[in-house]
Amino acid sequence: MRAVPAGGTEEAAAEAPVGVAAGRLHAAAPEVDPEERALLAFAVAFKGLLRGRMRDAVCVRAEACVARGDLPEEALTEEPIYRWWSAALRAQQDFYVDVTAAIVDRQLEALAATARTIARDPGPGSLTLDPSVRVPTYQAAVDIHCVPGSYFLERIADDVGPGARSELGSLAFAMGRHGAMNEDKGVVAAEFARSFAPDLAIRRILDLGCTIGMSTLAWCDAFPAAEVHAVDVSAPCLRYGHARARALGRCVHFRQADAEALPYPDGSFDVVASHILLHETSRAALPRIFAECHRVLVPGGAMVHVEVPIRDLDPAAAFLARWDAWNNNEPFWGHLAGLDLAGLCVQAGFPQEGVVETVVPSAHQKAGGWLVLAARKPA
Ligand SMILES: C[S@@+](CC[C@H](N)C(=O)[O-])C[C@H]1O[C@@H](n2cnc3c(N)ncnc32)[C@H](O)[C@@H]1O
Repeated sequence: MRAVPAGGTEEAAAEAPVGVAAGRLHAAAPEVDPEERALLAFAVAFKGLLRGRMRDAVCVRAEACVARGDLPEEALTEEPIYRWWSAALRAQQDFYVDVTAAIVDRQLEALAATARTIARDPGPGSLTLDPSVRVPTYQAAVDIHCVPGSYFLERIADDVGPGARSELGSLAFAMGRHGAMNEDKGVVAAEFARSFAPDLAIRRILDLGCTIGMSTLAWCDAFPAAEVHAVDVSAPCLRYGHARARALGRCVHFRQADAEALPYPDGSFDVVASHILLHETSRAALPRIFAECHRVLVPGGAMVHVEVPIRDLDPAAAFLARWDAWNNNEPFWGHLAGLDLAGLCVQAGFPQEGVVETVVPSAHQKAGGWLVLAARKPA
């Protein structure tokens, strides 16, 4: 497997695009005024610096620790350069979360009304909510990325707030490097599926943990004749995702469901995919999710999971990659890096020889590419 270069996970601030334009991304999206755009531009430029030149400098010190035989966890965390960098990164996270939350909060009622209208009008796709779906503990117990209320905050009727904030937040987080609509992971996964299973007629696709469908829509574009389904446990994200897909003219069937216990019969889909879902689950959930993927796939069907490339890093890069686990409420992130994912696929019923784990390049400008874990159910 190709390792991600230890330095340069992201490039310098001067080259960072703003990520979020002033105005509206689409008819269901929050309006962003020029002042808010300027705040987001600052957040993106700040992150460019912290993830670029400053991270490279910290990485040099981490590599020196490793070369001396010291653990960066012990030696580097006391050094001023690391402490300054880490504190600034935490402040940058809080800043863009606060800015995106404020943008959404000032128009929360209007966003819910727009989504309601779009959902009521005849249009492509569907939305099926199921209030009996329980949010798993690994999601309910932590606010991922320290976003208050995470994906689940519901303050008004038909709330879409977490979905709307997630769209702006994801664009700012990705510094505009994952495509104009943050579709990079879906583009990469769909392209991978095509080359991984060239003989497979891809007619029905399921996206697990879709949030607002940013990656899902890339599957609609890659396979325009296919029926595309997407599940998530978050009702407000699904409401927003459904309105967003319609506003962008795509047909997706969104459903509130747990990836560990899918409400679809055996053999329902040709492809089951996920995009950065796995690192937000748990050690106990993963085998159940893989078993459900296997169950709902047709014989010969393909499972394709896209993840952050946090495996097989050298010790210095691995130390810096764990920053999110320790400081950004990503409790499972570090554990995923050490798991035998291929073994879990085999345990779920996928033949060992067909399991692939690799790192593939971004379709846009994301440095370091994406980890892909894929397997096929025997025909
Ligand atoms: C990092 S986000 C996924 C991003 C999205 N796939 C994309 O590409 O834009 C993780 C999502 O997984 C959802 N999730 C977590 N555990 C889940 C489960 N067991 N079943 C369904 N959705 C789950 C969360 O609600 C959240 O929306």
